Amino acid sequence: MSDTHSESEAPELDELPAPASEEADVEVEREQDAPEELDAETRERRDAALRHVRKLGDPVLRAKALPVERFDRTLEREVERMGVLMHDALGVGLAATQLGVLHRVLVYRAYSEDPLTVLVNPVLEWESEERESAEEGCLSLPGVHVEVERAARVRVRAQDEHGEQLEVEAEGLTARVIQHEIDHLDGVLILDRTSREARKEAMRAMREAQETAGAV
Ligand code: NI
Repeated sequence: MSDTHSESEAPELDELPAPASEEADVEVEREQDAPEELDAETRERRDAALRHVRKLGDPVLRAKALPVERFDRTLEREVERMGVLMHDALGVGLAATQLGVLHRVLVYRAYSEDPLTVLVNPVLEWESEERESAEEGCLSLPGVHVEVERAARVRVRAQDEHGEQLEVEAEGLTARVIQHEIDHLDGVLILDRTSREARKEAMRAMREAQETAGAV
């Protein structure tokens, strides 16, 4: 994975507020939560995609997804749809559970120049003892950004959407996204991985965001 990503290449609004580079100060990321900077069409497409994403309170987000056994056209279509919705939602990762599908499937693209990666039945084979803290957001938790500590590097064994075995080694933001999405497949949210104080503040931010959006 390259470490030369410039700030302009980082997505505007992510499931994970992407650091401009892996060394970036996470505080910088607080400023990017500014959807009004998006053009109308992008915003509309994002809002439409987000309507398909389950939000906190939906029990499916707390469910454990089941291993995929059938690699067929249905799975291919499911993966395609995930890629499109993640892209439109301006996310860097998406787990099937977030769409209400209890399959162990996730997609991610930490940097816009990376190809989309599909992991079916991912298993975290190894994680580094070295850990890193950074701010994360989640498409299922609008308005929430909390500090999460995760392994700096991971190795994951999985299958692609055709059933081919693959192994992924990742670090930095990519490693973070993978761990975040695998958490989703186990019903774990970033709120479970932060301090009680941060969780309380996050819940308040989410309520405010909902009120701003006209929801109660
Ligand atoms: Ni998420």
